[in-house]
Amino acid sequence: YRDLRVALLGCGSVGAQVARLILEHGDELAARAGARLTLAGIAVRNIDSPRDVDLPRELFTTDAERLVQSADIVIELMGGIEPAKTLILEALQGGADVVTANKALLAAHGRELADAAEQVGAQLSYEAAVAAAIPILRPLRESLAGDHITRLLGIVNGSTNYILDRMDRFGDSAEDAMRVAAELGYLEADPTLDVEGYDAAQKATILASIAFHTEVPVEAVYREGIADITLAQIETAKQAGYVIKLLAIAERITSADGTDGVSARVYPALINRDHPLAAVHGGKNAVFVEAEAAGELMFYGAGAGGAETASAVMGDLVSAARRHVIGGPGLPGSLHAELPILPVGEVSTAY
Ligand code: HSE
Repeated sequence: YRDLRVALLGCGSVGAQVARLILEHGDELAARAGARLTLAGIAVRNIDSPRDVDLPRELFTTDAERLVQSADIVIELMGGIEPAKTLILEALQGGADVVTANKALLAAHGRELADAAEQVGAQLSYEAAVAAAIPILRPLRESLAGDHITRLLGIVNGSTNYILDRMDRFGDSAEDAMRVAAELGYLEADPTLDVEGYDAAQKATILASIAFHTEVPVEAVYREGIADITLAQIETAKQAGYVIKLLAIAERITSADGTDGVSARVYPALINRDHPLAAVHGGKNAVFVEAEAAGELMFYGAGAGGAETASAVMGDLVSAARRHVIGGPGLPGSLHAELPILPVGEVSTAY
């Protein structure tokens, strides 16, 4: 096998699992990728921080830039905008493929990163950035590339789903449900990212951009969180046969003047209790896709967690390694402007 050098940037709960899987599954990965994946190093801020997995100390470095320069594939799991963005751009310009789970960075600068990858024919993939373990971006980008997606309804924020589900199923007050979610560590360090729908809006941007081959800036996503949802509203919805879920919606719509375009929005919506999305309980995620030829599809699973998110990162890693072996350009860039983005206007709040 040819040897490919993999640089890992960041070693939090996801990074540690990715490192473990690369080290433990070497032979299997080599057979699948057609190349031996050597973990060249792990860049971290503090080498002595505690890790979820016991990893060889000599792998760690604080010099991310140097590590990136020698890599064939860079896995960015540091989070945040900088230095992640600069390191990814440097990696791509140096001819490396990049795998990232950085939803905030992709939501803010996805187009710039996709363009940089396309210019050099490198592959930028980020399956783990939306709904963690659930394979959704690759199906949208590849399996459904010959179909016409009309609408996508996603439960893409696990912590708010957990909170709403507790209220609906156990009659918890909003405050109690929120407290339990916080105790279980389900919420982002800044809980407003979850509760106010920012996290779901970032994921809606990524989903809408890929599903509709159009750059959908996060500013164009209409956003409402769950902060004002009360137990009384949930009970009323239940009596009418609905459950309230925070949905990320990306939809192909036609404006009053006949223009076809895309609308992306996040808000607490009423889901008919017979709809498959109503059965998505606890902190789980699901994306319901409606396509012209395929009809209805649903993708369900874990939307967070170290190993779960690492699963998606590993899939992207194997795909990038195969491309290195076979050659040819990376995944097709999907952020061109096939459709205009239309204002949300009058839309349904019940599904
Ligand atoms: N805070 C996110 C969630 C984590 O609750 O889904 C995964 O992106």
